[in-house]
Amino acid sequence: MFRYHRLPAVLAVLLLGLPWGVLAEEKSGQMVYDQTCIVCHHAGRLGAPKLADGKRWRHLVAEGLDDLVPAALGGLRQMPARGGNPNLSDGEVARAVVWMVNQHGAQAAEPDEAAIKRWRAMADRQKKR
Ligand code: HEC
Repeated sequence: MFRYHRLPAVLAVLLLGLPWGVLAEEKSGQMVYDQTCIVCHHAGRLGAPKLADGKRWRHLVAEGLDDLVPAALGGLRQMPARGGNPNLSDGEVARAVVWMVNQHGAQAAEPDEAAIKRWRAMADRQKKR
């Protein structure tokens, strides 16, 4: 039989289980990938390096985040800036790149504010004139 005096505790447990991260302003790298980057990077659309293409990503990992993150922020040839999703913050785009390289053996840490600012400045400098 259901014990009504337990109701507050049951509700509290249910609330704790809600995906509060969805409401928070910043998405994780994997969430950004799954929502935006996957559109091209899953199947290799427009010539995007497929996430599953270990050989291509090993080369990209070797290029380093200072190359990859500004490209993702500002766009590169067929890739639009922020993967075409203007709602993403610089930090969210950077975290998505970090998540992608970490799928291929890199052990990059979550980017801090200083790194994100630096990558944004690099992307702005690289903007096509
Ligand atoms: C509309 C398609 C598209 C979407 C969406 C997209 N990309 Fe790309 N991406 C590309 C293409 C095409 C390339 C290859 C660019 C080239 O080298 O010409 C690329 C290349 C890259 C590279 C390698 C850059 C380099 O320096 O060679 C990174 C990193 C990357 N994408 C990250 C992301 C991230 C992070 C997202 C999501 C926020 C994303 N992409 C969304 C199409 C896309």
